[in-house]
Amino acid sequence: DSADKGEYRHFMLKEIYEQPRVIKATMEGRITKTRVLEQALGTDAANLLENVRHVQIIACGTSFHAGMVARYWIEDLAGVPCSVEVASEFRYRKHVIQPDTLFLCISQSGETADTLAALRQAKKAGFRAAMAICNVPGSSLVRESDLVIMTQAGPEIGVASTKAFTTQLTALLIFTVALARHNGLSEEKEAEIVAALHQLPGQVSDVLALDAEIEDMSKAFMDKNHSLFLGRGSQYPVAMEGALKLKEISYIHAEAYPAGELKHGPLALVDSEMPVVTVAPNNALVEKLKSNLEEVRARGGELFVFADRAADVKPEDGVHVMQLPSVHEITAPIVYTVPLQLLSYHVAVLKGTDVDQPRNLAKSVTVE
Ligand code: G6P
Repeated sequence: DSADKGEYRHFMLKEIYEQPRVIKATMEGRITKTRVLEQALGTDAANLLENVRHVQIIACGTSFHAGMVARYWIEDLAGVPCSVEVASEFRYRKHVIQPDTLFLCISQSGETADTLAALRQAKKAGFRAAMAICNVPGSSLVRESDLVIMTQAGPEIGVASTKAFTTQLTALLIFTVALARHNGLSEEKEAEIVAALHQLPGQVSDVLALDAEIEDMSKAFMDKNHSLFLGRGSQYPVAMEGALKLKEISYIHAEAYPAGELKHGPLALVDSEMPVVTVAPNNALVEKLKSNLEEVRARGGELFVFADRAADVKPEDGVHVMQLPSVHEITAPIVYTVPLQLLSYHVAVLKGTDVDQPRNLAKSVTVE
């Protein structure tokens, strides 16, 4: 029963732990062992995705971060230009809709006022099709879109979004593969990504098994007022989402930066009072990331690094390293989100905040 916390102290923790199951449910019927089933995305999907020349993603909050990750995927795998914007900005500016643009709204609730307003406006402006990634069947967004991929997260009660985000990413990656197939993605590459998708539930469970260690780590944040989250590439939006979680439920100021921008400002803030959290899977940028971490260390900043074993980040005084399972680079944003959710959760519990109902925030913002 989704309205029951069961053995968990908070809905948020329960929802974090549900992720292996709901990610699996979001893939079910949409992928085979090696392929994405395009027709499972909608009977008209093949027609609507053919000749898409541009994708415009609109969302708010956590859903916006899912869109930010998707941009990396869409441009990388499909080679289709993708723009991402928060709905409250998009709706109040003059925008140019390029020909054959797919308009993609991401929303857990499907009722966020700004997202719906942006969709209605864009519909008048003319675009190829309106697609939605949504968690609530029958919501306004679902009803008003041409193509819908439902996330199978089940009801999300905690105001801070967790399982909705990772299922949005799962759905977005499946969509990206379908789009990429219209743009020359090889069968081999598709099989590789689908295999990585199949591994996700197990990998997320492996990260959940680190819960006690992450809880231990959270003690270092309890008396801090500020923190910095760093990532590069598709892990930059993961850092943004990690920072948002910490802000929302622990009320600690958290800012996310793409690690390469550190020297253009935030480095001036770094001292022993500002913990720096970093997500470091083993990818082409890891060596660059490591030199960014040196910059932090040299200024006395305390580092908390979630890293792939192969990334070879060495623990030392002031550098806490938590090793994560080796994952495919494409699915890494989904896996690396989970330790950041757990970290914020435990900091909030230690601080005694109202985890499921943080002050001043609402689950669904249906008025402007
Ligand atoms: C609120 C919620 C967030 C959510 C955002 C967008 O701010 O507290 O958790 O990410 O709205 O909501 P949506 O339902 O459109 O994803």
